[in-house]
Amino acid sequence: MFGYYRDKLHGHRLKRCYDLAPLRIQQYLRAEMEYVAQQTLLGKSLLELGCGYGRVLKYLSVKTKTVFGIDIAPSNIEFASHYLVGCDNYDLAVMDATNLGFADDSFDHVVCIQNGICAFHVDIGSLVRESVRVVKSQGSVFFSTYSPKIWQDRLEWFELQSREGLVGKIDRNKTHNGIIVCDDGFTAGTLDTERFCDEVYDIPVEVAVEEIDESSLFFILTTKSR
Ligand SMILES: C[S@@+](CC[C@H](N)C(=O)[O-])C[C@H]1O[C@@H](n2cnc3c(N)ncnc32)[C@H](O)[C@@H]1O
Repeated sequence: MFGYYRDKLHGHRLKRCYDLAPLRIQQYLRAEMEYVAQQTLLGKSLLELGCGYGRVLKYLSVKTKTVFGIDIAPSNIEFASHYLVGCDNYDLAVMDATNLGFADDSFDHVVCIQNGICAFHVDIGSLVRESVRVVKSQGSVFFSTYSPKIWQDRLEWFELQSREGLVGKIDRNKTHNGIIVCDDGFTAGTLDTERFCDEVYDIPVEVAVEEIDESSLFFILTTKSR
């Protein structure tokens, strides 16, 4: 499964997944971006992990001073550089979110939404540790996953993706409890609060948890003194 987005679902294909989202999913996607915009401050720098084709960066670029997007798929970064034409405060790089090429304390905010924390299929502790390393000491880190309340709508969205051949056929026997499994190796899980807190118990951060729009669960990290 590791590398599914990097190898199979990037660029135009990734964008198509978002373009065909049903109305309730469009509402969820927008609610996530609005929430981040409300919580982050104008005049600050923001890093998005797993920025895809630039959907979130485009929205946030007008809300904050500078945005930097990194993604593991080179074609996403190439696509985003066109998608963000007209924005003058962004930067992009191909990078692995668990091995960021930035100095400590580089950004005011780090954002990893739309279930990136599960979609990356990396060690969650390493991902969180690296994001905390590059955020400034007064800054904040945002991770989000799906709320269980949006399961049926999420499933419907993935069925549409499957019908277009963007992901494989959904395996009904294995798809349940917040996990979607397709017959081509695609899997996408979710994370509950207990597991998130278990994964980060040894990282010096305060964790706040907030459900928004009955669709998204946010884990907001602020650093304890380092
Ligand atoms: C579900 S998509 C979300 C894209 C974008 N955040 C959005 O909401 O429109 C997940 C993205 O994470 C990227 N990705 C997967 N593993 C990654 C990693 N280890 N480091 C950085 N990006 C990664 C994928 O290439 C893909 O663009």
